[in-house]
Amino acid sequence: MVNRRRFLLSGLFGSAALLAGAAWLRPGDKGRPYTAYFQALNAELRKAGPMRPLLLIDLNRLDHNISVVNASLQRSGKALRLVEKSLPAKGLMEYVASRTGTDKLMSFHQPFLNQTAGYFPQADILLGKPLPARSVQMFYQQYRGEADPTPRIQWLIDAPERLQNYLQLAKARNTKLRINIELDVGLHRGGVTDNNTLNSLLNLIAENPKHLEFSGFMGYDPFVGMEVPAILGTPDTLLARVMARYQGFVDFTRTQYPALWRDNLTLNTAGSPSYRLHESERLSTELAVGSAMLMPSHFDVPSLSDHIPAFFIASPVLKSTGKVNIPVLDGKSNLFSWWDVNQRASFFIYGGNWLADFVSPEGLQNNSLYGRSSNQELVTASPGVGLNVGDQVFLRPQQSEAVLLQFGDLLAFRDGKIVEHWPVYQG
Ligand SMILES: Cc1ncc(COP(=O)(O)O)c(C=O)c1O
Repeated sequence: MVNRRRFLLSGLFGSAALLAGAAWLRPGDKGRPYTAYFQALNAELRKAGPMRPLLLIDLNRLDHNISVVNASLQRSGKALRLVEKSLPAKGLMEYVASRTGTDKLMSFHQPFLNQTAGYFPQADILLGKPLPARSVQMFYQQYRGEADPTPRIQWLIDAPERLQNYLQLAKARNTKLRINIELDVGLHRGGVTDNNTLNSLLNLIAENPKHLEFSGFMGYDPFVGMEVPAILGTPDTLLARVMARYQGFVDFTRTQYPALWRDNLTLNTAGSPSYRLHESERLSTELAVGSAMLMPSHFDVPSLSDHIPAFFIASPVLKSTGKVNIPVLDGKSNLFSWWDVNQRASFFIYGGNWLADFVSPEGLQNNSLYGRSSNQELVTASPGVGLNVGDQVFLRPQQSEAVLLQFGDLLAFRDGKIVEHWPVYQG
């Protein structure tokens, strides 16, 4: 009898402990309604939006990031080169270029280069990747501007073979191409790694002054601003290593090819993650920045902590279907919504499956059992998000370049109102 009672008691305690444990494991309610900021955007889009997925740029927030960049440039005394692939819309590029006062751009893609050269007839354009010589030919074939763009383009060259190809092209076109040399300052994405290779390149340039002109160096170092285990180096020690490599190539050129050296050469470096760290060095003349203007989430690094997200995807809710309901499981899906309050509301949005994460209302999630969709994506949440059909779901892109091109015209907002439509680059 005693034993049986003990057994019952311990069973009872055991179940209570199990239930308490289970309650502890049970997901909490993550759903919150829009913040005031997103509530205002939602109201504007309900009133004046196109009711399809779109990419919005918040100009107030962009202005903040521009002022952070401008202040850093003032401290460093360096020029800014805007990265076109990260801001690929004419209106957006014009907006940022005019507020930073720069006429230096960086291009990465032949069709974009044609557009940039046409839209910005005064700009100096440095290529950010070494284009195949055929692409250069295509650029010239497709170029429609009046003036010859050759004097304001710096072609990026990574290896002697490519420079030979460019030399042939320059001879065939009876022109002189400006050559910027890609340095491997630690990224290991190609480019010059040693003085022998640099020597071959500079020698070829020096021997062909009618067709080639040395315009400077490009050494890209995003890893300096990335978070790496401290044992591998602090941002300052990583930067010191980058600049020691850069300085070595500069010294070699100055001493071995003094006739090619000029004070106004382009000594380009950085990218968004590292640009702030270059305030402390005096060798480079200019910094390339694009993504930090908009702040996709992949750029959430300590060196960019003064920057704020300035662009979002907005997509309308098409359907609100209640508790999560998985095909084939049908009624058995109730187990999920019983267990997890964040699966008690289901929404199908217009489009989906972007390189982006939900930001508002808070607590939205994808459903891995149901799967992803680029057509009508299922989003689940707790009823606490307060979403209705016709409301917008807001997402923050993880990167800018490809995501910006997926939505047609960008919509620029100021003070919560749509103020501009900016067509994006084509091709
Ligand atoms: C050569 C080069 N410079 C600079 C950048 C920086 O671009 P962002 O500021 O958008 O990261 C990149 C990005 O890929 C690059 O390849």
